[in-house]
Amino acid sequence: MRPLTELLSKHPDQGPNLLVGLEDADDAAVYLVREETAIIFTVDFFTPVVDDPYDYGAIAAANAMSDVYAMGGEVVLALNVCCFPADLPLEIPREILRGGAEKVYEAGAVIAGGHTVEDREPKYGLAVMGLVHPDRIATKGGARPGDVLVLTKPLGVGIVTTALKSDAADSRSVVEAVTSMARLNRDAARAISGGAFHAVTDITGFGLLGHAWEMADRSGAGMRFNFKALPFVYGAQALADDWLFPAGANKNEAAYRRHVHFAGLPPEMQMLMFTPETSGGLLVALPPEEVDAFGTRCAALDQPYWVVGEVREGEGIEVLA
Ligand code: CO
Ligand code: CO
Repeated sequence: MRPLTELLSKHPDQGPNLLVGLEDADDAAVYLVREETAIIFTVDFFTPVVDDPYDYGAIAAANAMSDVYAMGGEVVLALNVCCFPADLPLEIPREILRGGAEKVYEAGAVIAGGHTVEDREPKYGLAVMGLVHPDRIATKGGARPGDVLVLTKPLGVGIVTTALKSDAADSRSVVEAVTSMARLNRDAARAISGGAFHAVTDITGFGLLGHAWEMADRSGAGMRFNFKALPFVYGAQALADDWLFPAGANKNEAAYRRHVHFAGLPPEMQMLMFTPETSGGLLVALPPEEVDAFGTRCAALDQPYWVVGEVREGEGIEVLA
């Protein structure tokens, strides 16, 4: 999938209220409505990633809302975006929508209708509105050398859901992947915005390395990851050993490999770091003196996190085995 910024023509006058938009495309657009209030606005939808329609709806909703959390905001309002085949038994779209709606309620937000079109392949997601104080917007730029890189969900759900489609994933892998994908990034966002932070994004279709590179590039800095520190859902590394990667992993590798230097990591583990994720965690660049306080806030929220690397002078990404 090509970044939308490559397809859009330039719109010269966006006005002063668009704080984050096309010029510096981020996880979501941010629009100033009052001195103390900015709207975060985003849309995301995709084809089924799991068999169970309720889980699919919940995952698609968590994924769509994630871009609001990646901007440091809280979700307030959502609309369903639906493409369903005409011959789909009614209980399936009902379960998808129930999964989505219950996830929006869990986020403390309101779901107010939406729009449905007929399509051969089902697609579901949300248009989402959030709110953030204009001084507390979390963007991809702003990471500084010396910052600590923290990740708030395990990786590897993309390879597990691909294996699920060919019956190659065991049930423990699938349960861990579904639980992780359906988890809201709300508590992670609250732990981040409760203190000082420099840059935030969420890990989705471009994989850890694609999204990390965007953050590094936007920040004018380099990054170093320690592979051993990366968390993976159960079974992901074994599936990588069997080279059961989705096609998106090759696309990401083609797009981002030139920005990455691997110090002695086997090819299958390199590829795993390029593999698309769905509803992944937040990647955060924290000032080093902030990490302990961040950990305390995470513990209070029962929010897991992993210290996975650091921001450095220079450019590009280095991965230590
Ligand atoms: Co995003
Ligand atoms: Co998105």
